[in-house]
Amino acid sequence: FTVDWDAAAAEKDGYPSFMEKEIHDQPEAVLQTLLGRSDIDGRLTLDEMRIDPEELKKIDKIIVLACGTSAYAGHVAKYAIETWCRIPTEVELAHEFRYREPIITPTTLVVSLSQSGETMDTLMAVRYAREQGARTMAICNTNGSTIPRESDAVLYTHAGPEIAVASTKAFLAQIVAAYLLGLYLAQLRGNKFQGEIKDILADLNKIPAKIQSVLDNADPIRELARSMKDADSVLFLGRHVGFPVALEGALKLKEIAYIHAEGFAAGELKHGPIALIEEGQPVFIVVPSPRGRDSLHAKVVSNIQEVRARGARTFVIAEEGDEAVKAYAEEVFFIPETQPLLAPLLATVPLQIFAAALAGAKGYDVDQPRNLAKSVTVE
Ligand code: G6P
Repeated sequence: FTVDWDAAAAEKDGYPSFMEKEIHDQPEAVLQTLLGRSDIDGRLTLDEMRIDPEELKKIDKIIVLACGTSAYAGHVAKYAIETWCRIPTEVELAHEFRYREPIITPTTLVVSLSQSGETMDTLMAVRYAREQGARTMAICNTNGSTIPRESDAVLYTHAGPEIAVASTKAFLAQIVAAYLLGLYLAQLRGNKFQGEIKDILADLNKIPAKIQSVLDNADPIRELARSMKDADSVLFLGRHVGFPVALEGALKLKEIAYIHAEGFAAGELKHGPIALIEEGQPVFIVVPSPRGRDSLHAKVVSNIQEVRARGARTFVIAEEGDEAVKAYAEEVFFIPETQPLLAPLLATVPLQIFAAALAGAKGYDVDQPRNLAKSVTVE
């Protein structure tokens, strides 16, 4: 009696690829990143920070440095940190950072985001920032890796090992860690009442179950992906925190399905990208919550109308109950309600599933895309 044993298949937990497994690991990844970082009164306790709280109170500028998917997590972080802490925050691709003359002072906090902690471009940028006198903090998924070792402080994401080259669960975990940093700074500096911080944390704690519900209802997006395996271009539009989600949706498709894909800020559409729209062009639109700020929802809904009127096929990611989008969408993929700033943790998931299913339908190696490495340790 023999049992066929395939170690790699066992590690994939029955999923066709590590990427699919890691997409499904996301409720747990988010949970692990949140775990043990606040008390029952909603006070954040980031003991591992190793930067004197008095020094953090004086920070007057934050620069977020990262590459690839991690840089898009950085864009989400900017919206949250500026809203909650009122500290000017810039996001920069790490490989561009050293080649301008960045303004860094002892009250600048440089936050690097890196899944591996070994990306050479990010490491060199962190070293440069330190030399210029900045305080440096790493948000990282790999314990003991080089970037956190060379930084003043570290916040580990605890998403667990990520094997697939295309990042998924590390992305969500980085966003969560950046939210925790933002809330911690807001708490230290008194920018927000403790009650508000507690409410945001309570909403964050509900995210894992909401991601699970997106995963449980993902068959329609997989089906759409399979039907689109011959597409040669897909566009993604988003606004506010939906903008980095659109960029990440496009990146996933480029990385593993080798399809030309672009993400745009929806407001930029009329300044150029709308010229790309022709009959049958697939466009994903990440719609902000109708409960969010001002007229943003209405503006994005009118963007859907604009591209549809020019022949685009419109696929919409919207909040449950957002009936307004239905009239203009070929298909709507609903995500559960949450605070507008936290929505990327849900809106990204259908786009990850779409890319993985489409690449799978094309017969590509979803985990090991051509020309790419999981960790790029050269400049
Ligand atoms: C490589 C990977 C990407 C990743 C980027 C940054 O290009 O293929 O998936 O987003 O590096 O990696 P890091 O480990 O620094 O997050």
